[in-house]
Amino acid sequence: MSENRAPSPREQWGSSTGFVLATIGSAVGIGNIWRFSYVAGENGGGAFLIVYGFSVLLVGLPIVIGEMALGRRGAADAVAAFARDMPRSPWRYAGWVAVLGCVLILSFYAVVAGWSLKYFTGAVSGALWKAASEGYGGYYREFIADPLAPVGWLFAMLALTVIIVAGGIRRGIEVANRILMPLLALSIVVLAIYSATLPGSAKGWEFLFLPDWNAVLKGRVIVAAIGQAFFSLGIGMAVFITYSAYIAPGTRIPRAAATIAIGDTLFAVVAGLAIFPAVFAFGMNPAAGPELAFITLPQIFLAMPYGRIAGIMFFGLLTAAALTSMMSLLEVPVASVLHRSRLGRRLAAILTGCVAFVLGIPSALSFGLLSGVRITGSSVFDFVNHGVSNYLLPLGGILVCVYAGWVLSRTEIMSASGLSGTAAGVTWYWLLRLVAPVMILLVVLDTVGAL
Ligand code: PHE
Repeated sequence: MSENRAPSPREQWGSSTGFVLATIGSAVGIGNIWRFSYVAGENGGGAFLIVYGFSVLLVGLPIVIGEMALGRRGAADAVAAFARDMPRSPWRYAGWVAVLGCVLILSFYAVVAGWSLKYFTGAVSGALWKAASEGYGGYYREFIADPLAPVGWLFAMLALTVIIVAGGIRRGIEVANRILMPLLALSIVVLAIYSATLPGSAKGWEFLFLPDWNAVLKGRVIVAAIGQAFFSLGIGMAVFITYSAYIAPGTRIPRAAATIAIGDTLFAVVAGLAIFPAVFAFGMNPAAGPELAFITLPQIFLAMPYGRIAGIMFFGLLTAAALTSMMSLLEVPVASVLHRSRLGRRLAAILTGCVAFVLGIPSALSFGLLSGVRITGSSVFDFVNHGVSNYLLPLGGILVCVYAGWVLSRTEIMSASGLSGTAAGVTWYWLLRLVAPVMILLVVLDTVGAL
């Protein structure tokens, strides 16, 4: 690790559970609640779910294990993970791709997190429910077009994240996840149970579990499922690499990775069970797209019994889930800055937070002041969102597959993963070497229209 300044003393998670909770916290986010529900809604519900399960198993999970093995082996940060043995090789840029990707994701992700915080505080204060007379379509559009408000909420979410990350791995990130993750799990289950009691909710369950077989083999569904798996697990952005660098001895990578993949998927499904039955019970459109959470759901909350409490829970949940993901997105660049400069953790967190804030302003304003600005035909927000999700995450994923599967020796990566000498290990190795990169490549080629 010639070019790394080793942090002293090295930070570490308090226990394996702390590490697993923090990584699930990173994976479970707006992607599971907001993005999953509309992507599933647009791609045939149950059919999507099946294809999604395979994508997580065959592409997502192998890469999560690969990232964790790299992190434990590199044991410093994203850049070091790819450059440990050959500090001057071009591979060192692979880590920087992830660092840049995290800051870019943070910049638009924090905008949506900010909307969600605004809705949460509105639900608590009651302002959100008074807005009903104008209709939530108008309310939402007016808010996101405001020249100041979305920037203020973006700032608030980033400031919270910076405070937690500045607190350190164990005392900041781990503590926050230990508090927030059980609360999240509890509230999504309560909401799903409540939703199931609404008259007419069975249609929502059918929609999520009864596949329309015609939709399963459609290329569009497969591409959407792999894209969603990438975003939802958060692979390719060195989050697992970075978090695994702080891994406590005795943590078993395969088991941790499986727990994360299952936890993340379950969370998305239960969130779907909270959302779709209610959407059907009130005769709304399940394929309403990104506006489902911010226009359709508030309308439903207003109409259902105890809906205001459900609304507080839902937007609280969305905000907290976003926050635990933002912590990892900030930690990746912070760890790299920390190990490569003389800055302390607190300053590194503040500085990186400021960069994400400045980059986030155009996204926050892209529905109002900057709505006229178009990059290749899309708004700034969509450009960054799609650019990162469709290209940067897959690129990061392929880099992990190639480095772990082809550059490092088989013995080395197998022993780092903790899968040496097992049949599961061989399966994993070939999924990582061949299946995952080929699938990712197909998805990217399809996205650019080359197929
Ligand atoms: N997985 C997070 C979500 O679903 C988003 C994320 C993407 C987090 C990439 C980290 C890295 O909301």
